[in-house]
Amino acid sequence: MKALVLAGGFGTRLRPLSCTRPKMLFPLANQAMLDWTMKNLSEGGVDTVVLAVNYMAEALVRYFGPTKFDLGIIYSREGRPLGTGGPIKKAQEHLVDGEPFLILNGDIISDIDYRRLVEFHKSNGGIATIALVRVPDPTRYGAVELDGDGRVARFVEKPEFGTAPSNLINAGIYVFDKEVLDYIPDGRKVSTEKEVFPILANQGKLYGYEVHGLWLDVGVPEAYLEANRHILERLTREDMGEDRVVHETAKILEPTYLGASVNVGAHSVIGPNASISDHVHVGEGCRIENSIIFPGASIGDYSSVRNAIIGENASIEKWVKVESGSLIGDYATITDGVTITEGVTICPSKTVSESILQPRQVM
Ligand code: GTP
Repeated sequence: MKALVLAGGFGTRLRPLSCTRPKMLFPLANQAMLDWTMKNLSEGGVDTVVLAVNYMAEALVRYFGPTKFDLGIIYSREGRPLGTGGPIKKAQEHLVDGEPFLILNGDIISDIDYRRLVEFHKSNGGIATIALVRVPDPTRYGAVELDGDGRVARFVEKPEFGTAPSNLINAGIYVFDKEVLDYIPDGRKVSTEKEVFPILANQGKLYGYEVHGLWLDVGVPEAYLEANRHILERLTREDMGEDRVVHETAKILEPTYLGASVNVGAHSVIGPNASISDHVHVGEGCRIENSIIFPGASIGDYSSVRNAIIGENASIEKWVKVESGSLIGDYATITDGVTITEGVTICPSKTVSESILQPRQVM
């Protein structure tokens, strides 16, 4: 079976972390985010993945190469962004061989059983099947109304508050027959969610299949931190990086990942739920908890990072606090004694020398 993975979006909310890598290559413990999906696809009976790439395409090509996890990998490069539908049309020559194929948003972390989804698709008589998950607030997603046979009677993208037909939403994972390609216009940006699914639903050709278990749409810092916690729980000691230097008085609270050549100073406490990437320097008396630190960042003495994400080569100086869903962009500097809290985003290469205590984006 073949799968097309959409891996070309900008990922607006997490963009300050994209200076040197696209979102799909953001670290989750010792892996890139997309590694997780690729491994699941391989275990789920997929033999070939078409990666639809656009933003920082070459970084993805370099990282995955022609094969990984026993998957053959083909790259479909877009000259300009084609949205969520255009890339499917563009890659059609690689997808169609008489079998249904899978389509996935590359920024979803899930442990869905692809085989069962495909079996359901083959038995339902439609031309497209969407995996559905139940969420408390469907307004950020595409919500569906199902009839008794699993057919999607209505598909509403980003319904206004109080108007969603149900709490079942599009999980960003689909099975398509080749006929669906006839519904996607050629050569332009297309939104599958707005231009294809509502029509298929009207024509009674779209089915929905509710899935349970792990499902996260890694679009905002909180979801990225949650994905990190799930991955850390599955790690074993052998997954840890090499040449780490942890001072004998420092404490590592599980689950925590320490990458290669990480340095941890005296009396620091790291974890639980911390992912510290390669070449990160942590000084003395630091506290890092429920956070992701990108490669090459440094955390100065007596600083704390809680529920936050620190970008590549960012520099957190001494006595700094970074907390509560805040995101420090690549190469940014937070100077001595500053507190950053409440979902603040600092753009790449900025220097911040005053505390910010309310949600804000520092450009
Ligand atoms: P936002 O900018 O925050 O909406 O994020 P996004 O760009 O990731 O958009 P969205 O969440 O709608 O994307 C769903 C999936 O499609 C993600 O895996 C994206 O990487 C991917 N995607 C979005 N736009 C494009 C595109 O133009 N080309 C390709 N190849 N993939 C895309």
